[in-house]
Amino acid sequence: MRNKLLEYKNVAAQFHTIEGVTNTLNDIDLTIYEGMSLGIVGESGCGKSVTSRLAIRLLPEPSFRVTSGEVTYHRNGTPVNVVKTKRNGKEINSIRGKEISMIFQEPMSSLSPIHTIGSQMRELIMQHTDMNKEEAKEHAIHMLERARVPRAHDVYEDYTFQLSGGMRQRVMIAMAISCHPRLLFADEPTTALDVTVQAQILSLIKDVQAEQNMALVLITHDLAVVANMVEEIAVFYLGYIVEYGSTDQILNEPKHPYTKALIESIPTLHTEEALKPIKGSVPDPYAKITGCPFWMRCDKASEKCRAEVPPFVTQENGHKVRCFEA
Ligand SMILES: Nc1ncnc2c1ncn2[C@@H]1O[C@H](COP(=O)(O)OP(=O)(O)O)[C@@H](O)[C@H]1O
Ligand SMILES: [Mg+2]
Repeated sequence: MRNKLLEYKNVAAQFHTIEGVTNTLNDIDLTIYEGMSLGIVGESGCGKSVTSRLAIRLLPEPSFRVTSGEVTYHRNGTPVNVVKTKRNGKEINSIRGKEISMIFQEPMSSLSPIHTIGSQMRELIMQHTDMNKEEAKEHAIHMLERARVPRAHDVYEDYTFQLSGGMRQRVMIAMAISCHPRLLFADEPTTALDVTVQAQILSLIKDVQAEQNMALVLITHDLAVVANMVEEIAVFYLGYIVEYGSTDQILNEPKHPYTKALIESIPTLHTEEALKPIKGSVPDPYAKITGCPFWMRCDKASEKCRAEVPPFVTQENGHKVRCFEA
């Protein structure tokens, strides 16, 4: 029996802006279990970041609104209704950065340019634990070492501008795991890095997950990134989960036309074959779309696909797909 950690139940959410209303999340059904690794993939604008940010209420309100469904965080057996908690209340503040942490593509979005690495880490650790200054310093240096930061004592005294991109990413990881979170969201953590550093950071994230025994949600637009990193994959398209399964099911027996197209668009290193880009593009977020979110880009779309949203159906071995033709 796997223990549930974070659960999205039929979540729908919108942004209300001067340009109109977006249907950013639609019927999101997703359960993250203790210690599991999950990949969330899909092109830019499909709701991957919003889904993760919703878990710790990092979204602009009141323009962002959950219109139906529930998000539940299971805190040591006690369910926390994430949508109903106060956005800056005590409860969510004690979860954010402590029990659920997040790392981003751009380390500068979570690191301060005007404080040393050490003072930022110490601050965070002291906020969430009862360590004193000395203990927090020792712990911070230990976490930097865990994130394979060389000369951790020196880096502790550094400012972010003194570090390379890859090193900043390591520092952000050290900070994110410093309170031993039960869940780490890594949102496009390697998109801005060159290929060699990318591989190093991914292997670091994988090692850290195993050492800390935490759940990992790795978010990326690049299916190739998650292939060797996660046990299960959710494929997002236009705010819907269109397919869900084990990494093996998704990569080797894809059922949704969008997943198939994503796989075909992965560049292969060892062949001359050019990658096949996915036909068309993700529609404008303010467009009102009826039927299947993917029908405009799908070769198999029928009348029914244009009229009705396909249900999310569980097929064999937990493999789920949202397609009338699959
Ligand atoms: N601050 C915001 N204001 C208005 N709309 C937003 C905002 N943030 C995200 N969105 C909308 O939500 C959609 C999904 O965004 P996001 O989750 O960031 O996509 P992804 O991470 O998959 O690239 C976008 O298409 C955008 O229209
Ligand atoms: Mg994103």
